[in-house]
Amino acid sequence: MGLLDISIIRMVSKLVLVLLLFHHVVIATSSYSSQKQYPSCPDGEKSALLQFKDSFTIDKSASRSTDAYPKVSSWKPAKGGNNTCCSWEGVECDEKTGHVIGLDLGSSCLHGSINNNSSLFRLVHLQRLNLSDNNFNYSQIPASIRNFPSLTHLDLSTSVFSGQVPSELSLLSKLTYLNLALNLDRLSEDKDHQSSEEENYPLLKLEASDLGSLVQNLTSLEVLSLSFVNVSSAIPHSMANLSSLTALHLRACHLFDEFPVRIFQLPNLESLSVRYNQELTGYFPEFNQSSLLISLKVGFAGFFGTIPSSIQNLHSLQNFDVAQCNFSEGLVPSFLGNLRQLTYLDISANKFGGPIPDSLANLTQLATFRISTSRLTGPIPSWLGNFSKLEYLDFAFNRLNGSVPASFSNLTNLQILYLQLNSLSGVVEFQMFQNLQFLFQLQLSWNGLEFVTVNSTVQQFTVLGLSNCSLTEFPSFLQYQKGLERLEIAGNKIRGQVPNWMWNTSIETLVYLDISGNFFSGQFPLVLPWVNLVGITLSSNMFHGSLPVPPPTMLEYTATDNNFTGEISSLLCNMKNLQLLDLSKNKLSGMLPQCLGNFSDDLTLLLLGNNSFHGVIP
Ligand SMILES: *[C@@H]1O[C@H](CO)[C@@H](O)[C@H](O)[C@H]1NC(C)=O
Ligand SMILES: *[C@@H]1O[C@H](CO)[C@@H](O)[C@H](O)[C@H]1NC(C)=O
Ligand SMILES: *[C@@H]1O[C@H](CO)[C@@H](O)[C@H](O)[C@H]1NC(C)=O
Ligand SMILES: *[C@@H]1O[C@H](CO)[C@@H](O)[C@H](O)[C@H]1NC(C)=O
Ligand SMILES: *[C@@H]1O[C@H](CO)[C@@H](O)[C@H](O)[C@H]1NC(C)=O
Ligand SMILES: *[C@@H]1O[C@H](CO)[C@@H](O)[C@H](O)[C@H]1NC(C)=O
Ligand SMILES: *[C@@H]1O[C@H](CO)[C@@H](O)[C@H](O)[C@H]1NC(C)=O
Ligand SMILES: *[C@@H]1O[C@H](CO)[C@@H](O)[C@H](O)[C@H]1NC(C)=O
Ligand SMILES: *[C@@H]1O[C@H](CO)[C@@H](O)[C@H](O)[C@H]1NC(C)=O
Repeated sequence: MGLLDISIIRMVSKLVLVLLLFHHVVIATSSYSSQKQYPSCPDGEKSALLQFKDSFTIDKSASRSTDAYPKVSSWKPAKGGNNTCCSWEGVECDEKTGHVIGLDLGSSCLHGSINNNSSLFRLVHLQRLNLSDNNFNYSQIPASIRNFPSLTHLDLSTSVFSGQVPSELSLLSKLTYLNLALNLDRLSEDKDHQSSEEENYPLLKLEASDLGSLVQNLTSLEVLSLSFVNVSSAIPHSMANLSSLTALHLRACHLFDEFPVRIFQLPNLESLSVRYNQELTGYFPEFNQSSLLISLKVGFAGFFGTIPSSIQNLHSLQNFDVAQCNFSEGLVPSFLGNLRQLTYLDISANKFGGPIPDSLANLTQLATFRISTSRLTGPIPSWLGNFSKLEYLDFAFNRLNGSVPASFSNLTNLQILYLQLNSLSGVVEFQMFQNLQFLFQLQLSWNGLEFVTVNSTVQQFTVLGLSNCSLTEFPSFLQYQKGLERLEIAGNKIRGQVPNWMWNTSIETLVYLDISGNFFSGQFPLVLPWVNLVGITLSSNMFHGSLPVPPPTMLEYTATDNNFTGEISSLLCNMKNLQLLDLSKNKLSGMLPQCLGNFSDDLTLLLLGNNSFHGVIP
């Protein structure tokens, strides 16, 4: 959630401290003696707050944070006595004048609209406003924001604001903190929890000229976060004039043209992200010792050139992401091993090759380590077993050979291990992973490994890739898997029938199943049991009987090269979004169901050859 966070600490003694934490700046009340004396707030501001409160419904699902609760529920109108709004939760008043100068309603379960007439805009002395992580129901950010000329902190992130960001924002020339990130369509978010970052539907738009004015006028900005705001323009070169910037987050903003290289050299910059801007190009300058960079993320953008060895000067660097950029081919830079503080390193999908340099053995703080889709050769170094903090290791799609190091059984914090599509060999005992209690994604497919299973009832996986792993039996531990999403056991030597318990395994969760290229025989149930299945590959086995009917969610259905018989059920046409259907090389017969002609334009491949159909093609 936002950096803007208020925590209230009450000490059991007489002491009551109110700490307001605004991005490292601690504004503490000065009265450390006995009871906190609150100033009294002007009636107009109190009623503005109450009116603001009443314009929303309280809805637990309006906030994403698990710590969310309705802060406004403590706000009550006066019933005699010294009821001042300055004591209300989330409200901060000026010590002397009593004016409301801070409002923190982050993660407060507010649901409803907000417009220019909102009573909020009567709080003209506001300096800090946090409305993040609520649901403002696709409201526009009201232009009345101009009523807050003293504003230094504005956090409207993750709050379902939509439409054009008002140009009036650039009047708030005192802003040091501006966060409009992650205003996404919750409907699309909820529907498809697996959607990639890019597919998230951004709600806010910012005109190029307005970005220019913001950068021109808000010269005190320290934090600027516009991630997932549709900007669709180049980054103005004048952004490099914002010399106070510590954090610049422009992830997935549809930025294009060249990234102003001077931004890297901003003297106070600690965190930079321009991930997921594929039209943005750029290159790294020489980095010098004085840089304070902690996080540098340019993955999935068009950065090119080389990683300069002067990156070693970034002594504070913890996060480094250049995944899927266009850095020139060559060896994995061994000088990366000098970035001892790294916890996150992703250089995947460039053209780095050669062996994994031993210098990286010094990166023992890594939690995420990814060099996938590259040209790595040689063995996986066994010193990786010393990386006790490792959670995510991804060397998939390379040319690594040798065995999976036994030392991996020491990686007790490992959650995800992707080694598929390499040239690894040797025996991998399932037992080796038994101590890795957090491991939930294991991908070993398409190497030449021999996987030896045991009958474990304990570990639960969401992803299991065991294709081409010399399996001769259906792994019995699968029957205890309740949350599998992806299962691959293709290209093994499994004979006989699919065990009956498989029809009752992970039926709510499984989205992808590949059991092709084995020696399976026997029949399927009439209807596939997995209700959310999106892809299934049954090809190159000896299944017979009728073709199973998949659920309507299906996108890819491949059953080629089996002995399926009978007619194609018209129920197949329930697959409204089908993209690929391959039923070739079977013994199917009869007429093709008329509805096959009604599949959507998404259908890109339809293979029905080598069967015994007759009649007309719909
Ligand atoms: C959100 O907006 C929709 C459409 O404008 C409206 O029907 C609905 O009542 C609003 N929800 C809330 C909680 O205000
Ligand atoms: C705001 O208030 C004015 C006058 O009270 C009214 O004419 C206008 O329709 C209101 N606008 C909105 C968006 O509610
Ligand atoms: C920049 O700020 C000044 C002073 O607050 C204001 O007069 C001017 O209109 C602003 N410029 C833009 C483009 O908003
Ligand atoms: C801001 O940046 C622009 C373009 O890089 C430059 O021409 C201008 O002189 C800078 N302005 C200030 C006040 O530094
Ligand atoms: C990557 O670089 C090569 C030449 O080095 C260039 O031809 C290609 O267009 C670049 N690709 C992208 C996506 O920038
Ligand atoms: C790790 O760092 C030390 C100290 O800089 C260095 O001597 C050693 O060679 C490094 N280890 C590797 C494997 O490069
Ligand atoms: C499959 O495994 C065998 C060894 O069992 C290996 O020779 C072969 O290259 C692997 N094929 C693929 C495509 O991974
Ligand atoms: C696997 O273990 C379970 C529980 O311990 C047991 O009931 C089952 O028979 C075992 N299956 C096999 C194939 O050994
Ligand atoms: C399917 O599995 C559930 C629990 O995983 C169990 O309660 C149920 O009896 C099983 N049904 C069949 C038909 O085996």
